[in-house]
Amino acid sequence: MKNLKYYFKKAQKEGWAMPQFNFSDFSQMKAIVEKCAELKSPVILGTSEGESKFFGLEEAVALRDVLRKKTGLPIFLNLDHGKSFEYSKMAIDAGYDMVHFDGSKLPLPKNIEITKKVKKYVGWKDVLVEGEVGRIGTDSSKIYSEKFEIKEDDLTKPGHAKEYIKKTGVNLLAVSIGNFHGIEVSGIDPNLRLDLLAKIQEALRRAQGKNSAEFLVLHGGSGTQDDDIKEAIKLGIVKININTELRSAFSENLRRALAENPEEAIPYKFLPLAQEAVTKVVERKIGIFGSANKA
Ligand code: 13P
Repeated sequence: MKNLKYYFKKAQKEGWAMPQFNFSDFSQMKAIVEKCAELKSPVILGTSEGESKFFGLEEAVALRDVLRKKTGLPIFLNLDHGKSFEYSKMAIDAGYDMVHFDGSKLPLPKNIEITKKVKKYVGWKDVLVEGEVGRIGTDSSKIYSEKFEIKEDDLTKPGHAKEYIKKTGVNLLAVSIGNFHGIEVSGIDPNLRLDLLAKIQEALRRAQGKNSAEFLVLHGGSGTQDDDIKEAIKLGIVKININTELRSAFSENLRRALAENPEEAIPYKFLPLAQEAVTKVVERKIGIFGSANKA
């Protein structure tokens, strides 16, 4: 199997994006992988600290391996929003393919310091490190009843991105360009600041050198308009994270299945409805990201 970097490079060259779908339970993991296998899309399975504490880091790695073997699909695991060096190290030791260290709430020098430590720990291992500069707000489960205001100061400053990359040597950078976790009640999140994305891309191009990050990442993919996503991919985004839409599809349909069959006690009879809802989200996103038949 080719490694994750190969797929990011391929995506960059061909103008599509790798999907990162988060999960916290095997019903979701299985549904995501089955749809990706059917569509022949490479996939990154993401777990936040909370999701991975519930599922188990070693368990996620073991099941990734089982599913890789069974489907022949390039399936990768990413620690999403690791908050500390210690937890990032645990994910690397468990066998994750990639870790996202999120020091975006720290002052830039501290963010740089810990990211460097994570990168140093990775050393020559075939593990990629994603960093984050600029704050991406809120939670991946919320449907916001009011317009979600993004503060100008939380957006990624191209100069900070450049400095962070030069000093840390991260492989991927998550940017804050008007994206946020969760969905607005209208179902559509406001426009991305594609002008800012272009500026960040330009700053990184100018920073090209030994320590230049090669790839840009878009978090908060739920609710983002399809056209914005397509434009963001054109501007260099190679990975897009989806969580809220998957969680909502799973939970809403699970609730519905149980309400419609209050006597049903057999999980394999009521869980498929929730899994089917997950596969629909996966199929739609793969269609927008253009990752089908890229495995
Ligand atoms: P959404 O919950 O908006 O899909 O964002 C997911 C994400 O970015 C995880 O890191």
